[in-house]
Amino acid sequence: MASTDTDLAPILDTFERRPETLISLLQAVQGRLGYLPPEVLGTVARHARVPRSRVYGVASFYSQFRFNPVGRHRVAVCRGTACHVRGARLILEELERSLGIKEGQTTEDMEYSLETVACIGCCGLSPCISVGDEVSAKLTAKKVRKLFKNAQRSAHK
Ligand code: FES
Repeated sequence: MASTDTDLAPILDTFERRPETLISLLQAVQGRLGYLPPEVLGTVARHARVPRSRVYGVASFYSQFRFNPVGRHRVAVCRGTACHVRGARLILEELERSLGIKEGQTTEDMEYSLETVACIGCCGLSPCISVGDEVSAKLTAKKVRKLFKNAQRSAHK
């Protein structure tokens, strides 16, 4: 896509045109756009001189890369052992209902993205979620409803 190529040119120009730059290149592009739209994979492939399938393979292998836009607030539900045994599944289900999206999706107003993570680091206060840099601990479904009562109820298409 021409406009994407133009937007990304200053970033691409800082990387040598060789396969070894692929991961750094993907990180830089995602840093600029917030995610990796499908049309940029070809641009990255041409620049790094690798097949598009390799770019897709690398980007889908590493969890740091995203193919969908993320919201202004990233809501991460801990699915670690301590949180799991104290009801993380119910917390995730309540968040999905409150936000009107499933795990991996973003609300239509681009306010919230919902994801799960391995551990937030406050296991003694489980179950926990983080919203951006803030952690909410000892959650219940009722607390989740209260926290997100004004959130958007439809998913980004
Ligand atoms: S297991 Fe949830 S914070 Fe560690």
